[in-house]
Amino acid sequence: MKVERIGVLTGGGDAPGLNAVIRAIVVTAHKHGMEVMGIMRGWAGLLEGGEVKLLTLPNVDDIHRTGGTVIGTSRTNPAKHPDGMGQIKRNLEKYHIDALIAIGGDDTLGIAQKLHNAGINVVGVPKTIDNDLSATDYTFGFDTSINISTEAIDRLHTTAKSHDRVLVVEIMGRYAGWLTLTAGMAGGAHIILLPEEKFDMNEVVNTIKERQKAGYNYTIVAVAEGAVPADVGDFITKDDKVDEFGHVKLGGIGKRLAKVIEKKTGQETREMVLGHLQRGGAPSAFDRMLGTRLGVKAVKLIVEEKFGEMASLRGTQMTSVPIKDAIGKLKLVDKELIEEMKLFMGR
Ligand code: F6P
Repeated sequence: MKVERIGVLTGGGDAPGLNAVIRAIVVTAHKHGMEVMGIMRGWAGLLEGGEVKLLTLPNVDDIHRTGGTVIGTSRTNPAKHPDGMGQIKRNLEKYHIDALIAIGGDDTLGIAQKLHNAGINVVGVPKTIDNDLSATDYTFGFDTSINISTEAIDRLHTTAKSHDRVLVVEIMGRYAGWLTLTAGMAGGAHIILLPEEKFDMNEVVNTIKERQKAGYNYTIVAVAEGAVPADVGDFITKDDKVDEFGHVKLGGIGKRLAKVIEKKTGQETREMVLGHLQRGGAPSAFDRMLGTRLGVKAVKLIVEEKFGEMASLRGTQMTSVPIKDAIGKLKLVDKELIEEMKLFMGR
């Protein structure tokens, strides 16, 4: 079948590099004589009757250098709405969208797979700053995010040292600690705590006491928002609410740690949450390039009628995998890397 019109949507949290993907899709589709409709606000836009706009070449001129997503995003789960999937099918038909490119993480791609099963022509592009999607080596947004967090940790060193303080920095990463591990090691955090292994508060306190004894006057602790203290046994959350995909709102582990550290070490301790600073702003060169290559590949998949596939980076090669093989299992930090990280605990 000849695809004349492609729809593109971005779902889940934004990630620097999304606009590079969108631009590459529009440019590549144009070369193949296809037009691109931007679906506004992710699945929410398709669900609510179709908020769509034609993306022309001038519309996407230069957007690869900017952060966020020009078509908006949401954490809407159509499968949680009455006849949501049927509504999406009808709206795709209404706008004569022959093939859909879904750019997102595990949740967005899970819906894409459901649509594929229902006979919709869909391809996927992996996206998350957390870098925890399996079946691709890197996701765009991660590189920008680790650079922002590393710079933040660099800056915390000088102020912590000047004030003889412990500084706890809370970094995004729900189930996987790639962001905290990379920024923590690159920025020289003395203690790094990841979601992959529950941690012992006493061990953290003892490491700081040992540093004090050894004559170091300050300590930087990098903790992932999804890190779990062994005595608590579960995520520290902001409240009891969950989103439509069943995710809790993480936050508070830094504050909790800081309180215990100050009490048990006697050293003045402050916490800071990097939060959405880690996702905002211009993408790095790596993320612009990766986003561009993924966008080109997504359109190629449509041209080759490889529906149900997701563009993927393996080594330096752009390839593709079935979406179903990319969802449902996250890529966590492996044990070997965690052991390497531990060599630097307290150093
Ligand atoms: O999934 C990416 C991510 O940035 C996580 O690291 C974080 O837990 C979550 O999004 C935050 O989401 P929100 O923008 O909805 O607060």
